[in-house]
Amino acid sequence: MTPAFEYVTYGRMDELHQLQSPRTGARAELNFILLSQAEELLFRAVGDDLHTAREALGGDRVEDACAALARAARTQRALLACWEPMNGMTADEFVAFREVLKNASGEQSVTYRSLEFLLGNRPERHVGTVRREGTPLLAEELGRPSLYDTALVWLAGRGCLDPSATPRAPWARQHELRAEIEDAWLEIYRDPGTHPQEFRLAEGLLEVAYQFSLWRAAHLLVVERMLGGKGGTGGTDGASWLRVINEHRFFPELWTFRTRL
Ligand code: HEM
Repeated sequence: MTPAFEYVTYGRMDELHQLQSPRTGARAELNFILLSQAEELLFRAVGDDLHTAREALGGDRVEDACAALARAARTQRALLACWEPMNGMTADEFVAFREVLKNASGEQSVTYRSLEFLLGNRPERHVGTVRREGTPLLAEELGRPSLYDTALVWLAGRGCLDPSATPRAPWARQHELRAEIEDAWLEIYRDPGTHPQEFRLAEGLLEVAYQFSLWRAAHLLVVERMLGGKGGTGGTDGASWLRVINEHRFFPELWTFRTRL
């Protein structure tokens, strides 16, 4: 009998290695599944840290929030790096098994969607789907203020943001760009020495948003490399659809105020 090594038992490694079921004999399919699973788990790790950041900020523990944001950004860099081995697959190798994906698409990832919701991207299209289909994890997330909402409430509590511009329930809606919020970040960046904690939080948030946009941009390039102008398995027109999503920025006023600095 094989001895039960604690590494295998603790990490449930045997079960983990049962979770890949290629549907063809194509060389690249196993690797495609492994990388998709690795990214899915990393989405969860990022979500865990962002959740911690939100809790910390809600409890006025801004240093803890900044530490959690920095950890999330580290994991996001690992997520970005996952596109490297994905590009080890050539377009013809992808074509060799793409058909067996049927309508599977990363767009259906609940972990990814909850990450977007947590950060504050809550477009009506996705909110409506959750209302209709009631995915519990996503419905729960939409019932809470996003990380950005929480950051803005914290800023208001510090006297940096007019209470009239502070986000309020219901939370299940898209954040609209507001001039008062842009003004608040502008003031902080005009004099970081007077607002060191607010400035550190802003930089932590921006790094997370930046890493997220880098991941989206690399995904788009991989899609162009694999599909050219073909539509996606999820039913969109592929790269063109993703190009529009690439325009989105998390924490928008943190980007727009820079024009006036
Ligand atoms: C050969 C590799 C890949 C191709 C060609 C590809 C293609 C696409 C396409 C065309 C879409 C748009 C929706 C659709 O019609 O399907 C999409 C969405 C998406 N993909 Fe991929 N993808 C690849 C790998 C991955 C991997 C490894 C992940 C991570 C698990 C991933 C995560 C996502 C996510 C999260 C979305 C939704 C984005 C959003 O809603 O903003 N993709 N993908």
